[in-house]
Amino acid sequence: MNLTILGCGSHAQMCAEIASLKNYDQIQMTNANDKEPGPIFLGMGNMKTRVKLAKMYSKQPSPALVSPAATLTSCRLGEGTLIGHGAVINKDVHIGRHCIVNTGAIIEHECIIGNLCIISPGAVLCGRVVLGERVEIGPGAVIGQGLTLCRDVLIGAGAVVTKDIKKPGKYWGVPARLMIPKKEKK
Ligand SMILES: CC(C)(COP(=O)(O)OP(=O)(O)OC[C@H]1O[C@@H](n2cnc3c(N)ncnc32)[C@H](O)[C@@H]1OP(=O)(O)O)[C@@H](O)C(=O)NCCC(=O)NCCS
Repeated sequence: MNLTILGCGSHAQMCAEIASLKNYDQIQMTNANDKEPGPIFLGMGNMKTRVKLAKMYSKQPSPALVSPAATLTSCRLGEGTLIGHGAVINKDVHIGRHCIVNTGAIIEHECIIGNLCIISPGAVLCGRVVLGERVEIGPGAVIGQGLTLCRDVLIGAGAVVTKDIKKPGKYWGVPARLMIPKKEKK
């Protein structure tokens, strides 16, 4: 089977490695920003680039790639989603299109994850968490049971989210609060 990985960086190399463990024997990696023939896979970790390329390649097939070292029970995965080494996804979880569930992340029972979400290494989503589209959960962050985070939210590394988040933005700390990074302040 053939697969084109869009991107040539470290994340793309990890995607290619997982694809090679899943019977893809013709894998090419490319920085091309024009349409590639056949199935593609988003191989970059940057949210803005992923959103742009997902739109550009929306009509092309994109398989889900699951590391053989991940543990999944009954869950539904959208096209183009990557499940990294050591991730654990428990029962009745729904994950949208073009998401990343990175190394060692834990997604507990009945979570619903929107399209284009990124769950970084070691993050934990307790049971019945709901994420809107394009939510990024930083490394090691914890999202409490039953919480809902709206679209376009970034949760900083190591944060603990204790309440629903209804407004797009960047949140970090314990407990997590809405913050503005210095480089975005005028
Ligand atoms: C939350 C985040 C976006 C903040 O961005 P940033 O540009 O570093 O933020 P700032 O430089 O404005 O930091 C402001 C202050 O918050 C602190 N801070 C930044 N991120 C923090 C975090 N996750 N937890 C606690 N404090 C944090 C900074 O040290 C700084 O403190 P100071 O004012 O005492 O110096 C970033 O730190 C982060 O956690 N990103 C997660 C995404 C990620 O790591 N992706 C990789 C996936 S493998």
